[in-house]
Amino acid sequence: MGLKEYQYKILVVGDLGTGKTSILKRYIHNTFTSNYKSTIGVDFALKIIQIDPNTIVSLQMWDIAGQERFGSMTQAYYRGAIGAFIVYDATRPLTFQNVSRWKNDIDTKVELPLAWGGGSIPVVLLANKIDQHPNTRSPKEMEEFCRENSFAQWFETSAKENTNIDQAAEYLISHIVQLE
Ligand code: GTP
Ligand code: MG
Repeated sequence: MGLKEYQYKILVVGDLGTGKTSILKRYIHNTFTSNYKSTIGVDFALKIIQIDPNTIVSLQMWDIAGQERFGSMTQAYYRGAIGAFIVYDATRPLTFQNVSRWKNDIDTKVELPLAWGGGSIPVVLLANKIDQHPNTRSPKEMEEFCRENSFAQWFETSAKENTNIDQAAEYLISHIVQLE
């Protein structure tokens, strides 16, 4: 029995200041800072995890600046991605309204490999900053929104308090491994 190694490119998108970089910092380095330094273009982060005794996954996380939704680069950034997180800010309703725009951007610009049957890549929705403000949408509304907009799942997260970040990542990874 050999060791299986998978490499996945994962996108993290959503409006300006919703907490994409903070979520990745928490996930990868277990740190948080309240200083806001907006991402320019795209940043990269790598995390290697062992999901079972025979399987290693290396995750290449693409942290895409919120302002890129208005740019012409997202198609290039999305190429080869196999999964995504869309992050909104539970304290700012406008960032939720833009979630479906981000979803549409991903769905129209990237597809799963043909060997996997093609089609949309799995996307998980994150309602971030719930330490500051409870999510204004009920679980039922969130489920309905996810069904209508073809999200694989949703989580309420806090990068500050380390809420549900690992759970969301685990969910997306196991979802992708099943497609493999
Ligand atoms: P862009 O790179 O500009 O697109 O922003 P971003 O989505 O990467 O946001 P970033 O992670 O830089 O966070 C923006 C601000 O929100 C920072 O001041 C963070 O400290 C703060 N922040 C991020 N996540 C949380 C959270 O879960 N709770 C609280 N209270 N603040 C958060
Ligand atoms: Mg950022």
